[in-house]
Amino acid sequence: ETKPRTPVLWLHGLECTCCSESFIRSAHPLAKDVVLSMLSLDYDDTLMAAAGHQAEAIFDEIIEKYKGNYILAVEGNPPLNEDGMYCIHGGKPFVEVLRRVAKDCKAIIAWGSCASWGCVQAAHPNPTKATPVHKVIIDKPVVKVPGCPPIAEVMTAVVTYMLTFDKIPDLDRQGRPKMFYGQRIHDKCYRRPHFDAGQFVEAFDDESARKGYCLYKVGCKGPTTYNACSTVRWNDGVSFPIQSGHGCIGCSEDGFWDKGGFYDRV
Ligand code: SF4
Ligand code: SF4
Ligand code: F3S
Repeated sequence: ETKPRTPVLWLHGLECTCCSESFIRSAHPLAKDVVLSMLSLDYDDTLMAAAGHQAEAIFDEIIEKYKGNYILAVEGNPPLNEDGMYCIHGGKPFVEVLRRVAKDCKAIIAWGSCASWGCVQAAHPNPTKATPVHKVIIDKPVVKVPGCPPIAEVMTAVVTYMLTFDKIPDLDRQGRPKMFYGQRIHDKCYRRPHFDAGQFVEAFDDESARKGYCLYKVGCKGPTTYNACSTVRWNDGVSFPIQSGHGCIGCSEDGFWDKGGFYDRV
């Protein structure tokens, strides 16, 4: 209780803010406890009261006072085309702000598929040259928490782990925490017995769909998607896309927009 709270600077690049929307819905731990009691969220465009120059001044203060000891959380990514002009943050290209804040941080959390892989902005032909964080900041540990958005409790659990153990969690070869991205959706899917039995939905309104058969033949990407949806689930463990009747579109995988996650390429 007496330990000083770790400062976190949460930046927003090219993104839709639904990673933040997911984060604030965390039930275990509650997002309010993370933000108000566990860490010191000193900057976040969408979750702070301050604005303008007063808000921007916090960068200098935190970087100087907590050099090497603050965490940088990034939602979205920097577009590199036209010298970064496609995303301006406080009058400067976002990529410049990102590099400046990253320089003296302890570690970076890349929230969601935008920061981890590029996501929709980087979909072909990627006109703004949207680029994932680890390709711009190459000299800091980057913890990727992909998903569009990531599961709320996965986000808060990663933060909790880093604050509790003062280290980053074990990562797989792609930089994702193994504890949440070590298995495919398919490995723990409750429809898996139907897959194994060869019982498939052929059309979304057929009898097999009503019986809850496997969604593989209507495009489910669960067999190639690493995420915790079939175990942790969403909305405080209530459900996840497959349980709602739609196949996984692989939203936590690199390049899912271009790799057949959507209907025109199924
Ligand atoms: Fe939005 Fe998805 Fe990007 Fe998160 S990863 S900011 S949910 S587009
Ligand atoms: Fe695998 Fe998808 Fe079928 Fe579930 S619905 S068993 S994840 S193919
Ligand atoms: Fe995304 Fe698939 Fe989970 S679409 S939310 S990884 S079930």
